Amino acid sequence: MITEVQKSVAPLLEVRQLTLRRGAHTAVRQVSFAVRPGETVAILGRSGAGKTTLMHALTGLLTPTVGDVHWTDQCVQPCCAEHGLSPQRRAVMFQHYRLVPQLSALTNVLCGRLRERSAWQTVWGFPADEKARARQWLQRVGLVGRENLPARKLSGGEQQRVAVARALIQEPAILLADEPVASLDAETANEVMGLFWELNRQTKLTVVCVLHDLEMAERYCSRVLLLEQGELVYDGSSRNLQEIVKEKLDWKTLS
Ligand SMILES: Nc1ncnc2c1ncn2[C@@H]1O[C@H](COP(=O)(O)OP(=O)(O)OP(=O)(O)O)[C@@H](O)[C@H]1O
Ligand SMILES: [Mg+2]
Repeated sequence: MITEVQKSVAPLLEVRQLTLRRGAHTAVRQVSFAVRPGETVAILGRSGAGKTTLMHALTGLLTPTVGDVHWTDQCVQPCCAEHGLSPQRRAVMFQHYRLVPQLSALTNVLCGRLRERSAWQTVWGFPADEKARARQWLQRVGLVGRENLPARKLSGGEQQRVAVARALIQEPAILLADEPVASLDAETANEVMGLFWELNRQTKLTVVCVLHDLEMAERYCSRVLLLEQGELVYDGSSRNLQEIVKEKLDWKTLS
């Protein structure tokens, strides 16, 4: 939930009266909310509720039919300066990972750094310190020994963890993640969500993620946005989430 301190800070993201039509179907309908630096927000809803469509609007992959998505990057500068984060940087994790299948796990992670490099620097390859950082991130997501395997030879869960490492090596100010732990077993999922939580505590990383697991949303996110048929039916604390979902969706669970 938003604390008093956070309320006094300008939002870094504002979604205003957002409507997105996909063909004849309205996937997101008049959704408005704001996200402040340092918040941890879970987007929940049944399959087809419009979560991915909403995330695509946040990342700029989809243009709003009506309304807008407004980024106010300057507002994150104080905490970014303090923690050495790039105020402009938004890391994105897609629902289906989008790794380059023929490249190794390590190179896929390094792809997260491409924005930082000029074309000719890329031609010469990544320097040793960047490679060491990529290895460290792979280690943090439990992929030691998998660095040199092409992504196509990794399991779904391993690929998902490479995508986590590729996002986090960018040292983003905000992580936008569509189902970042969907392919992971409970223990690994908790480790990855725990890592986001730790980064949120340590560096004020703002997290906006789509989740299906209510327990996980309650444990790792302080705020929840609940979508139902494209509409935002709840925006508030993640406490007592089972009760909220039961009341708002008339349904026991999302998974
Ligand atoms: N390209 C498209 N053309 C037409 N309809 C689409 C398109 N993409 C998505 N939709 C529809 O928009 C609705 C929302 O889809 P979306 O992918 O956002 O759901 P979701 O909440 O992410 O679901 P899931 O939990 O299964 O990932 C669905 O009914 C879907 O069929
Ligand atoms: Mg989706």
